[in-house]
Amino acid sequence: MEKKIIVAIDGHSSCGKSTMAKALAQKVGYIYVDTGAMYRAVTLFALRNDMFDAEGQPKAEELEKAMADVNISFVLDEETKLPLVCLNGEVVESEIRSLTVSSRVSPIAALPFVRAALTQAQQRMGLEKGIVMDGRDIGTVVFPDAELKVFVTASAEVRAQRRYLELTAKGDEVCFDDILRNVQERDYIDSHREVAPLRQAEDALLLDNSELTREEQMQWLLDTFKRVVECQ
Ligand code: DC
Repeated sequence: MEKKIIVAIDGHSSCGKSTMAKALAQKVGYIYVDTGAMYRAVTLFALRNDMFDAEGQPKAEELEKAMADVNISFVLDEETKLPLVCLNGEVVESEIRSLTVSSRVSPIAALPFVRAALTQAQQRMGLEKGIVMDGRDIGTVVFPDAELKVFVTASAEVRAQRRYLELTAKGDEVCFDDILRNVQERDYIDSHREVAPLRQAEDALLLDNSELTREEQMQWLLDTFKRVVECQ
């Protein structure tokens, strides 16, 4: 039987990582894990429990004490067979995509105790391999030995435009400049935080998809996946 591998897909926010990771997992029958959704679910917990101060900074001590009560899990959507993220048993897929959560998630993801808890949970999910995981530190911290690592990027303007279209298609009233600012702020915080900053692993393949169609990048990913599996 073909040997299963771990596919780590990291990169900047809103560059289509999740879409390509999901599509790859579906095509090759692997489990897909969206680690950004896990950081977003912790952020939703903090928002619901009044754990941000007036400046929008997380109340770290309170959150650290409450972390034992934060259970992040996934259930499979019957129709799509894709995992939906749950916060303490409640499916929160749609709540975690709001601009409120997006604008608060980076400082939450910079907290060492949050990263430690989620990294451990992610490593447990990969024990059996056969997994496609997307995030920021999957190839560098969570699975430094992943057989296939891809680092995805695109210009901030292209990414903001994609996020804008996604949100307006859902009926959200949003302003392009706010989204662009949010994308740039998250890039900065994600790559400058002390713990597990966003960076390309030395052995990761770089994919700049600013000028690629979804089909083109999917074909590239699938070809690359097949090549790596054949070498195992
Ligand atoms: O991929 P996303 O936009 O849903 O991620 C949300 C936030 O979580 C983003 O600001 C970066 C952070 N994140 C992280 O620090 N590490 C990960 N493995 C995944 C996401």
